[in-house]
Amino acid sequence: MGSTHFLDGQWVDEQDLKISAFDLSVLRGFGVFDFLRTYHHVPFELDTHVDRLFDSAKAIGLDAPWDRNQIKELVKIGIEKNQNGQDLEVRIVATGGVSSDFITPGKPSLIMIFHPLTTYPGECYTEGVKVITFSSKRFLPASKSLNYLAAVVATRQAHGEGAVEALYVDEQGRINEGTTSNFLAVVGDSLITPPVSEILLGVTREVIIKLAASEGIKMEEKPLYVRDISQFQEAIITSTTKEIMPVVKINDQIVGDGKVGPITRRLANSFKSFVNSI
Ligand SMILES: Cc1ncc(COP(=O)(O)O)c(C=O)c1O
Repeated sequence: MGSTHFLDGQWVDEQDLKISAFDLSVLRGFGVFDFLRTYHHVPFELDTHVDRLFDSAKAIGLDAPWDRNQIKELVKIGIEKNQNGQDLEVRIVATGGVSSDFITPGKPSLIMIFHPLTTYPGECYTEGVKVITFSSKRFLPASKSLNYLAAVVATRQAHGEGAVEALYVDEQGRINEGTTSNFLAVVGDSLITPPVSEILLGVTREVIIKLAASEGIKMEEKPLYVRDISQFQEAIITSTTKEIMPVVKINDQIVGDGKVGPITRRLANSFKSFVNSI
């Protein structure tokens, strides 16, 4: 049996999950989304994801005439409807709506897509992964807008080079975040996260910051430069599906000693305990 999705008040099969080609999300990439997963069939950090959806909409001036509690309820109903014993990922999309002049937003559509969870091979966590750098900067980084043009191009390049992710590097040479992940590095005795003004406030990153605090790991928010990669003892990408993924190579440069480091290990273990307690 296929999945059941949500579109503007209706539960529909994939073949009926259709919007107008006049919608600004299709024509201009104008719209926002959020993306969450379940652990043991429970939506992870649902309040935070729904709040971020509304923050994303506000940041680009997208009308979001929905009730937060109603969206949360619909996510839970959708998870129930799509239950097949495995965990799911949920994509909530708010489109720009049908435009009369191809540029002015119209009445937004609300879409929820339920899909089996994307997972990564175990070696990604035990051995660590390679990432590449890619020159780009997200427009309005705090907004999870539908414009992932750079992400599609950069990810294809990353995969072509045997990497799992591409890190955006801006004109100042700062590594801000990945195409669909946040980036953190251990330098000296601190876990460094790039300035929040330059990144999407990743939900996984927020959880990691709390866990690091309770583990007594020192954290600092400051820029991480490409020219300083040789000083990174450890590097991590975090996201809803990647969770805490150790980075052992950036382009052709080995990070630290090329193995998963102790701080990454501690964080990954405490993240595992945290999600297992759900
Ligand atoms: C640009 C960007 N940064 C960071 C993240 C990580 O966010 P989260 O941990 O909420 O999945 C994502 C997730 O897709 C993203 O698209």
